[in-house]
Amino acid sequence: MSQQVADAIRSRRTIHDFVPGSAPPAGVIQAAIEHAAMAPNHYLSRPWRFYLPGPETTERICQLNAALVRSSRGDGIAENKLKRWRQVPGWMVLACVRSDDPIRQREDFAACCCAAQNFMLYLWGQGFGVKWTTGEVTQDPGFYTLLGIDAGREEVVGLFWSGVPASVPERRTPSVAPPVFILP
Ligand SMILES: Cc1cc2nc3c(=O)[nH]c(=O)nc-3n(C[C@H](O)[C@H](O)[C@H](O)COP(=O)(O)O)c2cc1C
Repeated sequence: MSQQVADAIRSRRTIHDFVPGSAPPAGVIQAAIEHAAMAPNHYLSRPWRFYLPGPETTERICQLNAALVRSSRGDGIAENKLKRWRQVPGWMVLACVRSDDPIRQREDFAACCCAAQNFMLYLWGQGFGVKWTTGEVTQDPGFYTLLGIDAGREEVVGLFWSGVPASVPERRTPSVAPPVFILP
């Protein structure tokens, strides 16, 4: 494996804070999506769907999230979230096409997760951080509606924020050896 690939895998962190206005350029996002779509995919079904919300749609996502937070945690926290979400520079939603066959569904979803990692690693290599989030809003029927996703046909894999990291957190997962079972 090239050292660059190993370095990207090792150094990538989930980024929670971005430099304002630092969204990756459209061409970089396009290239990240192309690399995402090179993920392994058992059925060659290309089950991934990439949604790129523009300013109008991102504002609607921010408002929907604030409404959900308001009803569970109150006005103050909702206002803070709204302010914070409006500062997120880059937005992408990844969805996976559903299948009637549960095994294929699981494997297609797995392929989408591989695509997500490719997307994140490509951007990381270009100097951009990503946060993959599956917070409450991403499960909300209103989220599907405002993105134009038919929930019967596709399942949201995650909302991906991107931009230049304002800070890079320390690794949170312990650096202990993973469980490995060597068999005869
Ligand atoms: C499927 C999935 C969903 C995630 N959803 C969230 C989320 O909703 N909020 C969040 O802060 N991080 C989320 N993360 C990021 C993890 O918290 C993060 O990967 C973990 O803390 C390890 O940090 P690292 O990515 O820097 O190694 C998600 C990651 C995955 C794979």
